[in-house]
Amino acid sequence: MTKKIIFDTDPGVDDTMALTFALRSPELEVVGVTSVFGNAAGPVTAQNALRLVELEGNGHIPVARGADQAIVLPALELGTEVHGEDGMGNTDPAPPKGKLADVHAAQFIVDTVLANPGEITLVPVGPLTNIALALRLEPKIAELVDEVILMGGAAYVPGNITPLAEANIYHDPHAAQMVFSADWKVTMVGLDVTHQIVMDNARFDKILAADNPAANLLRKIVPCYRNFFDQVYGIGGAVYTHDPSAVAYAIDPGLFEVRQAPIVLETEGRCMGKTIADEEHRWVDYRSTNICVGAQAEAVLDLIVGRLTK
Ligand code: BDR
Ligand code: CA
Repeated sequence: MTKKIIFDTDPGVDDTMALTFALRSPELEVVGVTSVFGNAAGPVTAQNALRLVELEGNGHIPVARGADQAIVLPALELGTEVHGEDGMGNTDPAPPKGKLADVHAAQFIVDTVLANPGEITLVPVGPLTNIALALRLEPKIAELVDEVILMGGAAYVPGNITPLAEANIYHDPHAAQMVFSADWKVTMVGLDVTHQIVMDNARFDKILAADNPAANLLRKIVPCYRNFFDQVYGIGGAVYTHDPSAVAYAIDPGLFEVRQAPIVLETEGRCMGKTIADEEHRWVDYRSTNICVGAQAEAVLDLIVGRLTK
């Protein structure tokens, strides 16, 4: 059965890979895309999300613009150093043809979930602001969403934006706390697993050599992202596979190994954004998150490459 997803995103180079991967996957039906600040400013990621649905003839999918900043925190530094000022590797892409939906992302999520009870999987791969705002608008969605599969967090490994925090969570830790503590099924595809799923040069180059609109776009926007990885991690052109791994989980959870614990957020100070796995339920008694801690990395990568090269 096809899984209906709402893809919440801050495109973003790896968001671009992830969304095109999702749109090319018959197991998933993308019923809407919601945009959020993060890798670039809110107005920029919204236009990018629109460009991405139009890229391969999916302009009928609604794109709703969401939050431009975190719920509580003042605006923090965006991810433009990694993804470019335009979120597209500083390639100054042409404007999209269509228009954004006339509704805020959070309201779009609420309306879509209420109209499809039990059928929607939320796949957020940016800061969790829109998801938290949707929960605040209509708490009932917690019981009506099938699952939340999010890219973010670092439970048992170091962070990437600070020694402890992963970027998506760091950008809005209060939103993350709301999402992790709500009574719904949450799966966290965080650095614990995405740093094990390394897109090596051979696979990456295979994607970039393909002749289709997704690959043609990636060829342009990827150099900036790849350079960043090279400078920071020195992994010679390879990249950690963040957002596409959340899509891979949505397609085939059997490729991943999970551990369960409630996730507690540190929301201030130098540990802000740390996702703490409270394995023994000492601090909280709310529902456990499925924390991805391992994967059949080769199979995940082959799935991504297969879809993006066809
Ligand atoms: C996450 O942060 C963003 O830079 C990426 O798009 C990904 O969602 C990885 O920490
Ligand atoms: Ca992202």
